[in-house]
Amino acid sequence: QKIELSIDEIDKCGYEHFMLKEIHEQPHTISDTFRGRISMDQSNLFLGGITDVLPRLVQARRIIIIACGTSWHAGLVGEYLFEEYARIPVEVEYASEFRYRNPVIYADDVIIAISQSGETADTLAAIKMAKESGALILGVCNVAGSSIARETDAGVYTHAGIEIGVASTKAFTSQVTVLMMMAFLLGKKRNLISQEAYEELIAGLTQIPDKIQEILSDEQYIKGIGETYKDATNALYLGRGNLYPVALEGALKLKEISYIHAEGYPAAEMKHGPIALIDENMPVFIIATKDKSYEKIVSNIQEVKARNGKVIAVVTKGDDVIVKMADHVIEVPECHEALAPLVTIIPLQIISYYIAVLRGCNVDQPRNLAKSVTVE
Ligand code: AGP
Repeated sequence: QKIELSIDEIDKCGYEHFMLKEIHEQPHTISDTFRGRISMDQSNLFLGGITDVLPRLVQARRIIIIACGTSWHAGLVGEYLFEEYARIPVEVEYASEFRYRNPVIYADDVIIAISQSGETADTLAAIKMAKESGALILGVCNVAGSSIARETDAGVYTHAGIEIGVASTKAFTSQVTVLMMMAFLLGKKRNLISQEAYEELIAGLTQIPDKIQEILSDEQYIKGIGETYKDATNALYLGRGNLYPVALEGALKLKEISYIHAEGYPAAEMKHGPIALIDENMPVFIIATKDKSYEKIVSNIQEVKARNGKVIAVVTKGDDVIVKMADHVIEVPECHEALAPLVTIIPLQIISYYIAVLRGCNVDQPRNLAKSVTVE
């Protein structure tokens, strides 16, 4: 059954904008995404929507993820996870490029289309084109019964609830949550992760909502950092590994609602070009939580500081190294490295929101953008 609602009928629940409400909903929406998909004893995952096709997914020669915008960023996190835990090669494609390219698709490939709205024209057209190859086509959609959900062979809904803000926030974290569950499940089915490691990942995921709540309680502090940089004309976002897509997503959030030019890069790429942009007026957001790239990202921070750039670092709680180097640090609670994208994106969403509000921008309906891009 389909329920039609106008935006005015949906309550902002006391928040000034839908985007802020949706940022705050994330502890609940992430729980909604994994609810019913984790066994009571937290020893196993069940993804009902893909149970029937799971054998084909387990045997996949390759996974091709197709999406646009924020959903494409979620796909990049998925690439890291599928390769790390399930050892299946992954390609992440912009739907708009993929559909016009004549791509090589094998019948034993699995295509995963990611879309919040389920109506994005390029993603839908890419699915239709890929169908001819005989590959299994899965959807990760938020809107139940949407065109993409109907066009795919099977899929996993994100259950993030209606997202009104044009800048996607809770849909992104729910998409990433689904991809995490898929990657961990595949890794287990392919006997690549031990039961112990599997349970550690599942338990870690269930703790994420509380960790996000903790970050949300620092909202005023994060807003204060936003005040310092509200007049910036450019910004850089850097991350490594599975936090590189978070850098891209952080930059997209800032540019789409505040109209500040922002770019995300893998931190090591900085010295291949973007470093030329760094001076005392350039805020550089660096995602630098404790993981296997930590030492490398610390040197990237040094490189930015040596050129007088302003460093705003997202760090693991208790970090006593970066705090001495960065202009500002935003602490996030410690979590399993695989799950870090879910917590590190939160302060970047908050900072973009407040910068846009302080600049007087229309946060929920930024200029030139539509919530659902149904034209190519
Ligand atoms: C996100 O903040 C953007 N507004 C946009 O990039 C969006 O993610 C993109 O248009 C894809 O939409 P979809 O997930 O509904 O397919």
